Amino acid sequence: MKTGLVFKRGWTLDDVQWSKFDASKVTPTFLAAAKAASLVEYNAPDYVDYLKRVLRGAQPEVFELLDQWQVEEVQHGAALGRWAEMADPTFNFEDAVARFRTAYKPQHFASGDATSIRGSRRGEVITRCVVECGTSSYYSAIRDLCEEPVLQEIAGRIAADEFRHYRLFLETLANETEAELPVWKKLWIAFTRINEADDDELAYAYYCANVSRADEAKIPYDRAKFARLYNRTATSFYRRPHIKKLVQMVAKACGARAQSWLTRAGTAVLWSALRRRAGNAAGV
Ligand SMILES: [Fe+2]
Ligand SMILES: [Fe+2]
Repeated sequence: MKTGLVFKRGWTLDDVQWSKFDASKVTPTFLAAAKAASLVEYNAPDYVDYLKRVLRGAQPEVFELLDQWQVEEVQHGAALGRWAEMADPTFNFEDAVARFRTAYKPQHFASGDATSIRGSRRGEVITRCVVECGTSSYYSAIRDLCEEPVLQEIAGRIAADEFRHYRLFLETLANETEAELPVWKKLWIAFTRINEADDDELAYAYYCANVSRADEAKIPYDRAKFARLYNRTATSFYRRPHIKKLVQMVAKACGARAQSWLTRAGTAVLWSALRRRAGNAAGV
């Protein structure tokens, strides 16, 4: 970690050293990534509503933790959005959020249904662990590679939060009263969630964040195109140690040993898939 700091839980936007912002260190790739991530993070309350329905009947502490988790995710979006507005004064965070919320409305968020789309509460929490593993490694990669000091700090703070979120959902899993799932099934749930990163959410976020309202008619949304653009941006940050840690965290959530042949193989497969994806996306 470049900053050498350990960021504790409970930080606010006032703790960020905004005065250290250095416009000369902003690059288009990190800017595009921060803008897209700001929308996804800020949209957390819709997911929290759904998760509370799925976990109904859980201990009251679980719901208190979910409320705190929501506050932190929204703050991630606000911090990234504020940084993006500093880096690009033409970017309007609130307007981009409004467009994203209109464009992206998954059925399970809006239906009011209390059934998990993963088939069980355990499956839902495992996918949550996978997402927190993914965000933790993603922001760690941004922290390690970007040169702009404020984005580096924000990414470091968010990465630390995401790791704590992962542990929070691991604990939720450990306290779950629903019947345990076999390891193969948990691995399958994790695998399908990782592949789901190709769904409309990230492509829409990239579009709404990086194409202004004024340019919408000139540059219409094209799912395949913006998914490729998102992938090209996101996959360019990862280095092998980030992927190794990601796979170890996912393996732990699935009950597989973190140092087993399975996780070594998983690291190799995911690393080559990301390289291939980056290569394919580079042709956009
Ligand atoms: Fe987050
Ligand atoms: Fe998180």
